[in-house]
Amino acid sequence: MSDAAILRVEDLRVGFATPEGLVQAVDGVSWAVAPGRTLGIVGESGSGKTVAAMTAMGLTRGRRTRVSGRVLLDGEDLLSAPPERLRALRGDALAMVFQDPLSALHPLLRVGDQIAEAVRAHRAGVSRAAARARAVELLEHVAMPDAARRVDAYPHELSGGMRQRAMIAMALANEPRVLIADEPTTALDVTVQKQILELLRRLRDELGMAMVLITHDLGVVAETADEVAVMYAGRIVEQAPAAELFAAPQHPYTWGLLRSMPRLDAEAGAELVPIPGRPPSLIHPPSGCRFHPRCAYVRERHREVDPPLAPLAGAGAADTGHRVACLLSETERRAIWARLAQGAARRRSWPASSSSSSASRSRAACCCAGGSARWRRSTA
Ligand SMILES: Nc1ncnc2c1ncn2[C@@H]1O[C@H](COP(=O)(O)OP(=O)(O)OP(=O)(O)O)[C@@H](O)[C@H]1O
Ligand code: SF4
Ligand SMILES: [Mg+2]
Repeated sequence: MSDAAILRVEDLRVGFATPEGLVQAVDGVSWAVAPGRTLGIVGESGSGKTVAAMTAMGLTRGRRTRVSGRVLLDGEDLLSAPPERLRALRGDALAMVFQDPLSALHPLLRVGDQIAEAVRAHRAGVSRAAARARAVELLEHVAMPDAARRVDAYPHELSGGMRQRAMIAMALANEPRVLIADEPTTALDVTVQKQILELLRRLRDELGMAMVLITHDLGVVAETADEVAVMYAGRIVEQAPAAELFAAPQHPYTWGLLRSMPRLDAEAGAELVPIPGRPPSLIHPPSGCRFHPRCAYVRERHREVDPPLAPLAGAGAADTGHRVACLLSETERRAIWARLAQGAARRRSWPASSSSSSASRSRAACCCAGGSARWRRSTA
């Protein structure tokens, strides 16, 4: 990843002490994001995407939380920063759009007041009237319909898409240098999803923000991210520039995610292939490779040996930033993916993800042929 990164997470580990044992939600995760770039983080529910992001924001501190590693914002370690320093940075240099806007917004306060408060918290001397004017401006900026009126609305009076816009306006109140957007389009219909993604991309480009986009939707990632990290059971199992990840994925779990998405050229009613099994316990994860109980390519040794996230060997090729945690050789992986992609092209369909099957939501769709993949969004 880029040396120009503004936010860098290094070997982050986050555990929660529970009566049943330590839930190791994040287990040695490293990623980085540079200004004007987008890092997409994907993975099934419970893979640790949100916990890693919340920890970067300093929002998981507590007596039961065990955290180690480093989170560097422009070189400053946030994990060891005192709470008052974190409060000063949060909502200013570093902002987050939370996974659930309805619970992230205060239900009893008008959205305009909440946005104005976000401005005044970091800009001493800004009057109430000026902060309110800024709230209207921000709502207009995120294309809230009738912003001058909606500034006085309560969250429950807004549609899901409008609430998401209000959350984004609040996150952008102080023009952050890094924006973490956690599932910003989940639960929105396809048209609104598209608008919100366009909005985030426009704002990223206008403000030169670094963006971390967390989602389980590979179509969102394909459209928006420059780099992708695939998380499984608290770890990154594959990491690559987005174009490379979609053209030549290397990890069986990534193949599973890709094959569980509908293709643009799928025949009507074509069956999709879900990843078998369920994500493992984070208190007692499987031995060896954590994905082995669900992996079609498992060998005996993989039940014992824990594969590190390593750069592709690639016959002396330059390091493209593509890393994978799998014990198969690169040659074997390339051959398997070529077969899978070819088979899918013949059948004209990929098999269906359990995670993105809501009929009302937009889906990623893939046009794959001979191992190269082109991903777009389509209406379910
Ligand atoms: N405070 C907590 N105490 C114990 N376990 C927790 C706590 N917070 C999160 N977890 C566990 O950590 C794991 C990772 O959770 P996280 O919310 O990061 O998943 P996620 O990848 O964001 O999933 P989703 O796609 O559903 O949002 C889950 O198993 C979750 O149950
Ligand atoms: S190491 Fe083995 S079990 Fe793990 S992902 Fe690779 S092939 Fe599958
Ligand atoms: Mg989450």
